[in-house]
Amino acid sequence: MIDISDRVPKSLADRIVSAEVAAEYFKDGMTIGASGFTPSGYPKAVPLAIAERMKKSPFKVNIWTGASTGPELDGTLAEANGIKQRLPYQTNTPLRNQINSGVVDYIDMHLSEVAQQSREGFLGKIDVALVEAVAITAEGIIPSTSVGNTPSYVQSADVVIVEVNTSQPMELVGMHDIYIPLDPPNRLPIPITKAGDRIGTHFIPCPLEKIKYIVPCDITDKTRALAPLDDASRKMGAFTVELLKKELAAGRMPKGLLPLQSGVGNVANAVIAGFVNSDFTDLEVYTEVIQDGMFDLADAGKLKFASGTAFSPSPEGLQRFYKDIDKYKKIMMLRPQEISNNPEVVRRLGVIAMNTAIEVDIYGNVNSTHVTGTKMMNGIGGSGDFARNAYLTIFYTTSEAKGGKISSIVPFCAHIDHGAHDVDVVITEQGVADLRGKCPRERALEIINNCAHPDYRPILLDYYNRALAATKGAQTPHLLDEALSFHQRFLATGSMQK
Ligand code: COA
Repeated sequence: MIDISDRVPKSLADRIVSAEVAAEYFKDGMTIGASGFTPSGYPKAVPLAIAERMKKSPFKVNIWTGASTGPELDGTLAEANGIKQRLPYQTNTPLRNQINSGVVDYIDMHLSEVAQQSREGFLGKIDVALVEAVAITAEGIIPSTSVGNTPSYVQSADVVIVEVNTSQPMELVGMHDIYIPLDPPNRLPIPITKAGDRIGTHFIPCPLEKIKYIVPCDITDKTRALAPLDDASRKMGAFTVELLKKELAAGRMPKGLLPLQSGVGNVANAVIAGFVNSDFTDLEVYTEVIQDGMFDLADAGKLKFASGTAFSPSPEGLQRFYKDIDKYKKIMMLRPQEISNNPEVVRRLGVIAMNTAIEVDIYGNVNSTHVTGTKMMNGIGGSGDFARNAYLTIFYTTSEAKGGKISSIVPFCAHIDHGAHDVDVVITEQGVADLRGKCPRERALEIINNCAHPDYRPILLDYYNRALAATKGAQTPHLLDEALSFHQRFLATGSMQK
C-alpha cells in the first residue's frame, strides 16, 4: 500500500484501508458530498472501487461536488449507471448524455449557493463526505488542488472518508483559506476588501472521530488540455484590453484595473493571455478557477494576487505549478466557492466578470447552458454569481457555431440564464457591443451591427425591422410566433441560414 504515514496523525493509523474496503461503506440511495472543482482535487481511488461494485451488483448514489470533476468520479460512475442525482455542475460527456436522456436528475445551481443550501438541509442530507486531501492533521483536513464545497460537506456529513493523495505535494499546505460563514440570521460581513485578504484557517476543521476511513491514493488530477489560441479568441482578448483601456482613460478604473474574474475554457484563457501582452500591471484576480493564463501573468510580473477555489491548469500548466509552487504560493490562494463566488464580496471588490455564452440574443439576454433550448451542455456554474454582482459584466461568444450553421446571436435565446439587466458588454470576434445606458431598441442595433457574423446580419436586421414595425416601436420589439425561428430552422434543416 502507498505509504501515507507522514501525512496522517499516528493516532489514525488504524483507519487506513484500501479503496475497496472503503467502497463497501456505500449503499443504494446514499448522498455523497465530494471534493473537487474542475478535474482538480476530486476523490479518485474510492469512486473507481465503488464503480466496480456497481458493475457487479447495481446501485445508485447522489453526487454533490464543487463543480465538474475528473473521469474517475463523474465518468466512471456514469458509465457504471450509478448516478441517480447530480449537482451543481458537470462537464462529462457520458454523464451529460445520461442527463439529456432522463437517466440522471441534474440540479444546475449557482455555485455560490450550494454550501449554504446543503448546510440548511434544503437539498436533503449528506450521508458521506468523500474528500481528497494532501494530509490530515490534529485540527482537520488539508485540501489539495481545490476547495469547492468541501468544508460545508465535511461539516454536514455524518461520516467523512478521506483519500490522502501523495501525487499532491505537501507544499500545497498553507495555500488555502477556509472560512464558513454563519447562516442567517447570524451572518456577519465577510471581511474581504482585497483579493489577497486571509480570513480563515489553512485547514478544513473536522473532528477526527468523524473520519471513518483514510485511503491512500496516488492517482493524479486529470486536468484538461487547452486548445492552441485561435484567431477568434485572440481577437476577443484584444477587444477586451482595448475596452478596459478606454475605461481607464475615462477614469472608471484604477491603473491596475479592478479584480478580474474569468470563466473556464479556451476563450477565457485567451482573454487572460491578452492581459499578459498588455501594458496593465499589478493585476488582481478574484475568480473561481486559476488557469494557465494566470501563471503567465505571474511569470510576467503582472499579477499582484489571484484568489480562486481551484487550480485548473492544463496538464503542462499543472507541472509548471508544482515545479514553482513556492513562488506561486506567495500570490495565490484557494477559498471555499461560497467565498470565491460570493455576491457580497464580488460587489464590494468591483470585479470585472468575463464569461462565455452559448448564445446571446439581440437584446442582450444570455444562454449559458442549453443548446437549442432543451439539451444541457454543462450548467450555469459561477457565471451568474459574478454576472449579477460584478462592476462590469462581459460575455463572450464566437459569432457562429457548428461551422457557421448556427448564429450565436439570435432574435430570442432559446433559454435564458442571464437577463439583459445583468449584461454590460458582449464581445465576439466581430466586435464589441457596449450595452450600458442603452434601451432595448438601441441594444439590438449595437449587438447586430457589432457582434453578429456578416452572414447572419441581414436576416437578424430583417427580423428586428419587421418586429419594430409590427409592434409600432414597442419597448422590446418581437414577433413572438417567429422569435425562435432561427432555432426551429436549425432543428428542421441543420442550419440557421435561410
Ligand atoms: N448553439 C449550439 N451549440 C453551441 C453554440 C450555439 N450557439 N455555441 C457553442 N455551442 C456548442 C459547441 O459546438 C460545443 O459543442 P461540442 O462540444 O459538441 O462541439 C460546445 O457548445 C462548447 O462550445 P465551445 O465553443 O467549445 O465553447 P467553450 O468551451 O468556451 O464553452 C460554454 C462555452 C458556454 C459551454 C461554457 O463556457 C460554459 O459551460 N459556461 C457556463 C458556465 C460558466 O460560465 N462557468 C464559468 C463561470 S466562473
